[in-house]
Amino acid sequence: MTRPHYAPAIAPQPTALPFELSPIRYRELTAQVESLLERMTLEEKIGQMTQFTSNRDTTGPSVGSDIEQDIRAGRVGSVFNAFDADFTRELQQLAVDNSRLGIPLLFGYDIIHGFRTIFPIPLGQAASWNLDGIERAAHIAATEGAAAGVHWSFTPMLDISRDPRWGRVMEGPGEDPWLASQIATAQVRGLQGHDPEATDTLAACAKHFAGYGAVEAGREYNTVDMSQWRLRSVYLPPFKAALDAGCATVMTAFNSLNGLPATADPLLFERILRDEWQFQGFVVTDYTAIMELERHGVADGARQAAKKAVNAGVDMDMQDGYYLDELGGLVESGEVAEARIDQAVRRILLVKAALGLLEDPYRYSDRERERTSILTDAHRQAARELARESMVLLKNDEQVLPLSKDISTLAVIGPLGNTQEVIGSWHADGDAEQAISLMTGLRNRLGDGVELLQAEGASNEIGSTDTSGIDEAVRLAEQADAVILALGERQEYADEAASRADIRLPGMQLELARRVIEAVGDKPVATVLFNGRPLELTDLEAIAPAMLEAWWPGSEAGNAVADVLFGDYNPSGKLTMTFPRSVGQVPLYYNHFNTGRPKGVDPKYASQYLDIPNTPLYPFGFGLSYTEFEYSRLDLDRPSISGEQALSIRVTLTNSGERRGTEVAQLYLRDLTASVVRPVRELKDFQRVTLEPGESRTLTFWITRDQLAFLDAELAMRVQPGRFEVQIGSSSEAGQTAEFVLEE
Ligand code: GLC
Repeated sequence: MTRPHYAPAIAPQPTALPFELSPIRYRELTAQVESLLERMTLEEKIGQMTQFTSNRDTTGPSVGSDIEQDIRAGRVGSVFNAFDADFTRELQQLAVDNSRLGIPLLFGYDIIHGFRTIFPIPLGQAASWNLDGIERAAHIAATEGAAAGVHWSFTPMLDISRDPRWGRVMEGPGEDPWLASQIATAQVRGLQGHDPEATDTLAACAKHFAGYGAVEAGREYNTVDMSQWRLRSVYLPPFKAALDAGCATVMTAFNSLNGLPATADPLLFERILRDEWQFQGFVVTDYTAIMELERHGVADGARQAAKKAVNAGVDMDMQDGYYLDELGGLVESGEVAEARIDQAVRRILLVKAALGLLEDPYRYSDRERERTSILTDAHRQAARELARESMVLLKNDEQVLPLSKDISTLAVIGPLGNTQEVIGSWHADGDAEQAISLMTGLRNRLGDGVELLQAEGASNEIGSTDTSGIDEAVRLAEQADAVILALGERQEYADEAASRADIRLPGMQLELARRVIEAVGDKPVATVLFNGRPLELTDLEAIAPAMLEAWWPGSEAGNAVADVLFGDYNPSGKLTMTFPRSVGQVPLYYNHFNTGRPKGVDPKYASQYLDIPNTPLYPFGFGLSYTEFEYSRLDLDRPSISGEQALSIRVTLTNSGERRGTEVAQLYLRDLTASVVRPVRELKDFQRVTLEPGESRTLTFWITRDQLAFLDAELAMRVQPGRFEVQIGSSSEAGQTAEFVLEE
């Protein structure tokens, strides 16, 4: 493999074996695979590299008749969007009973944040900073998906993004590589568990490799172009963390990256994944991404597209059938080595063997487990807990929140007040009909003693100018003791193929809020936001006394929001993606560089705008509480460290308010001088701490030399002596600071 000219040699950084298999188990499985591989024909091998979708049409689950023929003939290795114990068993029988070697199918599905019990969207889960909660959510998703016959989930989605115009930020972990890496680890562990043969675990899939979150102008599927330095410092770390946790598969990205479509880029799949990281799992394309090489203009027809993808290291072809149609001829002509085919098939069969499918193809298709393991009360309770923890209190002037329960009338105004469409758009087999709307959650919380008035008031449809419902909404608000404004986006507005150039509240929602707030005077008005991306909330923030970011909370949405609004849960969420004042600031992120003319060095000649501040409306790590937390006595146990010494950093956290609360204490570092520019802040650690009113606790953090490493201009990880600033506090913009020195 000749090294692409633009990738200097980088020291190998081996990842774990898929599923964190032990070397002994890995050898056992590879022996099983070899004995099967040597009996396979070329056509059967190519079949294993082929994946098609099932059609879950109105007549019930099915696959097209031509795919059924291919399955019978052993020309399909995987089917996605297939689930139900019966349907997966039926499909499996087609393959096992009819094909010559009876190799079982691998069933994949997008179980992004829950299978039937739907958890908050991933950007919301990330805002909980509760890694155990995120892992538990992934495990419950795996339990339910596996109970329905699924083997493999196309998650975690690990695309770092700094651009809220891109709709898929909803599916991701936010803007910080280190936090995203912790979340990736939790998600992979939750999905894959400790035993791939267990029937409550799934194979995971780190996607989309790579750089998809950096599409130009936030426009879906658009071009991506960045330095190797930025790719490796910002966008790749979460993928490395996922593979270090044993993630078994990787999915390619749709976008071109630095002039090559990701799906045909040997730098990504040969150089980085295989040479540097020694990844032993397999790579699947995104949907028809091989065919799309023709549209990118790098392939003149299916044959060249298939050749480029397979020779770039892509093992399985999702949906377009180009491998099935073209690889046989490419091998016969010598343009693709059969050894490359064997390599891809080994990786795919290894995953099937590790899941126990070669021994028992039907182990996951169990009707009884399906009947008893899905949407249980325990799963709903877990979803409710994580939903509460994901919510971020953005503003709470005059302590409007928590709302008093001693009210007789409550008005719920806005397009999201009485809808069950609050589970997010990638909701697998989740059913909005089984979700708790805000109105239902409030009714559950308040009982019949409080009169609930409800009106949409305005539409949240993009482009709507209809204000005809506002008068009625205002009239209801005037009758009530308190008002909840339920505003936000439609689920389909933050999703794949859902970029928005204008990220304000769609429709006339702001006008509705303005009219209601003006009309009710000093009555309590709480705004609850249901959305999938950071919105431009500057105008709303100027008039709304209290704002709670609820994201799309999932199956238990209404109950979780009610828990927070009435103080049964004190909000503890912290943003993992910056909320800009204006979309004109985007890309806007906390871990930016200082520049040579940072704001403040000169009234005019500085990096700033003429018309708005540089700062975001709400920064990374921000989130309020119903209580107050104070940081004091930041203390470093030594002024400098050298060699393998660790620095102990202590800070006292006090709950100085009246309520029990949970704070996410965040530790940031700044490398003040290095051989390359370094971010003004980098998250390096955090602690999620619950304190009773008046309680103080001394928190201890440790910093070691390896946490100070960075990628230098030659793309080598290095640690450089010098001064560092520590910041510990409640967000990326607030906290106690101190300095230390790293000696030679
Ligand atoms: C979609 C998405 C990808 C998903 C795949 C299968 O286009 O980009 O994330 O896993 O197709 O649904």
